Amino acid sequence: MPNSGLNETVERPAPEPPAVRLRQLTYADLPVVISIERRSFTSPWSPGMFVLEMSKRSTISLAAVDADDRLVAYAVFSRYDAAWHMMNVAVAPEQRRRGIATALIEGALARIGPDSPVTLEVRPSNGSAIALYETFGFRSSGYRKGYYANGEDAMIMWRGDPALAGVPAEATAGT
Ligand SMILES: CC(C)(COP(=O)(O)OP(=O)(O)OC[C@H]1O[C@@H](n2cnc3c(N)ncnc32)[C@H](O)[C@@H]1OP(=O)(O)O)[C@@H](O)C(=O)NCCC(=O)NCCS
Repeated sequence: MPNSGLNETVERPAPEPPAVRLRQLTYADLPVVISIERRSFTSPWSPGMFVLEMSKRSTISLAAVDADDRLVAYAVFSRYDAAWHMMNVAVAPEQRRRGIATALIEGALARIGPDSPVTLEVRPSNGSAIALYETFGFRSSGYRKGYYANGEDAMIMWRGDPALAGVPAEATAGT
């Protein structure tokens, strides 16, 4: 994804199971989403970028809300041709390490179905996100040179067979 992650985890006494409910993200959520986005990325998405992705029929955008119906996290997946792309995922800093991103990604993958390949880009320095993605079976399949605004390369990860999305094997051989 084209933004980078700020992954500081606020100290908590003990991890708790996620008490969140998933629902579709709406335009009315955008002020809270933008607040989390700006605390989560050095190059945050603008409101317009969310609106653009959310307006597509082939987008799955999910909100995670707590017991008081407060939005604490979100994820956006979009389909381009035969592949789904994880475009954005972020959890409010004070809510991290409680399984909320896991719940969101599980929810999105359940909607996508088991047979569709899913891909994403991540900063190689974003160890938290890479560890999270690996728990879902995403594996590194190469790098996109100079992808980020500061010139850093992106690691490309795939879950499932990229060939099913029409990506030739030689394009994913650079791990
Ligand atoms: C990355 C991010 C979405 C993870 O959200 P989260 O709700 O804290 O993740 P989960 O609690 O579901 O973590 C699941 C697993 O991911 C890995 N993980 C998550 N955060 C981690 C961290 N800070 N350090 C190491 N591993 C981490 C662990 O394997 C974890 O399992 P465990 O807690 O049982 O060890 C969150 O840190 C975030 O919003 N970061 C800023 C935005 C960002 O980087 N987004 C991804 C851009 S590619």
